[in-house]
Amino acid sequence: MVFISYNQLSKLEKAALTEAENTLKNAYVPYSHFNVAACLYTADGQLIAGANCENASYGLVTCAERSAIVRANAMGIRKFMGMAIITKGDSFDTTEPTAPCGSCRQMLFELSQLSNYDLKITMSNTKKDKIMVASISELLPYAFGPKDLNIDINRYQN
Ligand code: THU
Repeated sequence: MVFISYNQLSKLEKAALTEAENTLKNAYVPYSHFNVAACLYTADGQLIAGANCENASYGLVTCAERSAIVRANAMGIRKFMGMAIITKGDSFDTTEPTAPCGSCRQMLFELSQLSNYDLKITMSNTKKDKIMVASISELLPYAFGPKDLNIDINRYQN
């Protein structure tokens, strides 16, 4: 995990972060008041964003990262370079970037297997003046995945 400045992001990473930032307004967060948006990006610049979606039955919350992943799946896109994540508290300071939760890391690991790439995760605070970067293998070392089940996911690699 490293901290970098906004200027050090690639054009693609900046585009993904901007798309995530634009998606923050769609977070449905009446309970936590914690807005999260995430945006996957492909090598050729496709951007697929998601926002967190909460529910009165608290346990049903869908994180922004997983919402982007299932959206991409429904679009038939499964090969990515990375994801940008941005967070914003409604009424409290979010000066620190936020790393994806454990469930999202597991889903991102599966996507990294499909992508044949160690996905790069860019995590930004609201002001984009504090940005962390880590690969999914750094965020989820010794991950459990399709190989452990001797499963070949090759036919899903589009
Ligand atoms: N949340 C995400 O969207 N992504 C994460 O990786 C961490 C948590 C959301 C879920 C819930 O809506 C709010 O943040 C507080 O947990």
